[in-house]
Amino acid sequence: MRMILLGPPGAGKGSQAQNLSVALCVPHVSTGDIFRANIKEGTALGIRVKGILTAGELVPDDLAVRIVADRLSKADCANGFILDGFPRTIPQAEQLDAMLARDGKAIDVVLNLVCPDEVIISRISGRRLCCCGRTYHLTGNPPKVAGICDFDGKTLYVREDDKEETVRTRLETYHRQTEPLIAYYAQKDALCDVDGEGAIADITVSILGTLEKMGL
Ligand code: AP5
Ligand code: MG
Ligand code: ZN
Repeated sequence: MRMILLGPPGAGKGSQAQNLSVALCVPHVSTGDIFRANIKEGTALGIRVKGILTAGELVPDDLAVRIVADRLSKADCANGFILDGFPRTIPQAEQLDAMLARDGKAIDVVLNLVCPDEVIISRISGRRLCCCGRTYHLTGNPPKVAGICDFDGKTLYVREDDKEETVRTRLETYHRQTEPLIAYYAQKDALCDVDGEGAIADITVSILGTLEKMGL
């Protein structure tokens, strides 16, 4: 199962990828998570991309492609993966296709999470994260105890690029650079629109039903 989750910031790519990764037994590969982990650890990559993420802009294509090529070459991706946040531009998509084609592989399905801008603003402003990678929302997906991760009891935090002004920049970046991928994958007959509104678990069930109907 080689899957891409496409959609604007806050559409629920990470939340769905987390559930689908468990249900389908394939790894969740999030370029945003990889960049944030490098920023946190202060690696050379982290130092290079920190300002770009804080501004809500895109990391250069060659760098994003290199990170993904490296990740997809790991043994756990041999039977599939769920890409979240990659590709984000047409050149990234073309390089991903070329990378897979070299191994005689291709993307099976691109799930496009459809979510209006006003829902996105409310989702992102209510997002809370744990260092273990789990994502919560103040009202949509609250932890059992406010501000505390259900899983490990650690204190939740707000992502640095979730400030309202940066969210607006991220949305503009999405519409300008990433939205053209919808037409790119539609043309390849790989695109499947998913209603991104509704409860997180219901959306996962509906995606799994769609995949089954597609014979995947
Ligand atoms: P990235 O980390 O990919 O961020 P993003 O695309 O902006 O998406 P988000 O992670 O904000 O949202 P999401 O769709 O995962 O939603 P989530 O499930 O968390 O990228 C960050 C940055 O890294 C980029 O800006 C760029 O600088 C750089 N970057 C990354 N990849 C790159 C690439 N390929 N090329 C260049 N640069 C790159 O949900 C959001 C909130 O809503 C949560 O609180 C969640 O609990 C809640 N929620 C989710 N679904 C529902 C629901 N159905 N109902 C109620 N609440 C919900
Ligand atoms: Mg995410
Ligand atoms: Zn946690």
